[in-house]
Amino acid sequence: MSQAPTIGSRKADHIALCSTDEVAFRAATTLFEQVRFVHDALPDLDAAAIDTGVTVLGKRLRAPLLIAAMTGGTDEAARINRALAEIAEARGYGFGLGSQRAMLKRKEAAASYAVRDVAPSTLLLGNIGIIQARDMATAEVAALAAEVGADAMCVHLNPAMEIVQPEGDRDFRGGADTLARLARELPVPVVAKETGCGLSASVGARLVAAGVRHVDVSGAGGTSWVGVETKRAAAAGDDKGRALGEAFWDWGVPTAASVAMVAPLGLRTVIATGGVSSGIDVARAIALGATAAGIARPVLQAFVRGGEAEANAFLDGVEAELRAVMLLTGSPDVAALQKAPRVLGSELRAWLDHARR
Ligand SMILES: Cc1cc2nc3c(=O)[nH]c(=O)nc-3n(C[C@H](O)[C@H](O)[C@H](O)COP(=O)(O)O)c2cc1C
Repeated sequence: MSQAPTIGSRKADHIALCSTDEVAFRAATTLFEQVRFVHDALPDLDAAAIDTGVTVLGKRLRAPLLIAAMTGGTDEAARINRALAEIAEARGYGFGLGSQRAMLKRKEAAASYAVRDVAPSTLLLGNIGIIQARDMATAEVAALAAEVGADAMCVHLNPAMEIVQPEGDRDFRGGADTLARLARELPVPVVAKETGCGLSASVGARLVAAGVRHVDVSGAGGTSWVGVETKRAAAAGDDKGRALGEAFWDWGVPTAASVAMVAPLGLRTVIATGGVSSGIDVARAIALGATAAGIARPVLQAFVRGGEAEANAFLDGVEAELRAVMLLTGSPDVAALQKAPRVLGSELRAWLDHARR
């Protein structure tokens, strides 16, 4: 095998692969399709007066949406971050920066995460991996957040992706202790974030015990990060990594199940990322207990296809669907949508039964 790739070339691979549908889950789904709302044929509402606003991590969003963490560290990443952060600002969404690990290696990479000038009021989330955070002093993590002006810091958990990645980490000890330390000492809130394999009920409980109050479940059914790393392993001629990745392509807790399982745990924020591709999915996530939904690859794909205009057109559609669900369930605001009558399918109920045992 050739030399370990740099962070920059890895980021470029990620963007290229995630601009396609080749890295989607194959057979496993989010299970959002197992949430059906009960139609209200007599909504006593004016569609124009529906309020989609929510408060997330202390900031008011116009709609319960975040553009989830994607990139940083390269010129292309800078262009994507700035364009998408500007869209988030204009639309009143939250915005997640990609892993800031590149900033630790190269000071000059910081510019690719600088979006505050174009997104001054946006809920902005910083990002670092749990393994990097474990090996850093709290003050160093705080400096990463401060440098980009982040309102909160996502700490991403991605063991499945790491074990397939040829240059990935293999020693995951100390994760819960690291989160407990950061939750206690960091001047901004910590968001424990998966990257596409979801958080189980028991991991949710361990996060709460560690003092974590905010999570992004990033569940299974959308972008398979095992899939992304499988493709990279195949391209690098790493047959073992490729075979392992093929076997685990669809691994994880489906996003809908993950949201519903962690929702009763008393967390303050539950972000539902992972395979959210429509406004109906956003509504389903909220009904299952999410505070807001996050979208990563579908926004990137729209942006790569047709720049800001296409990304905005995609997000217009998402919002139109969300508003339609709210009207057709008689929900004037997001609090009402959380309680909207729904019917759950058997597989989703099986996940919830497991969590109750
Ligand atoms: C190109 C790309 C890069 C990503 N990089 C990061 C990252 O650096 N840190 C992180 O926490 N998640 C990262 N993610 C994961 C997303 O935030 C999200 O959790 C995951 O892709 C599932 O959402 P989706 O199905 O909407 O894509 C990345 C996703 C994409 C598409």
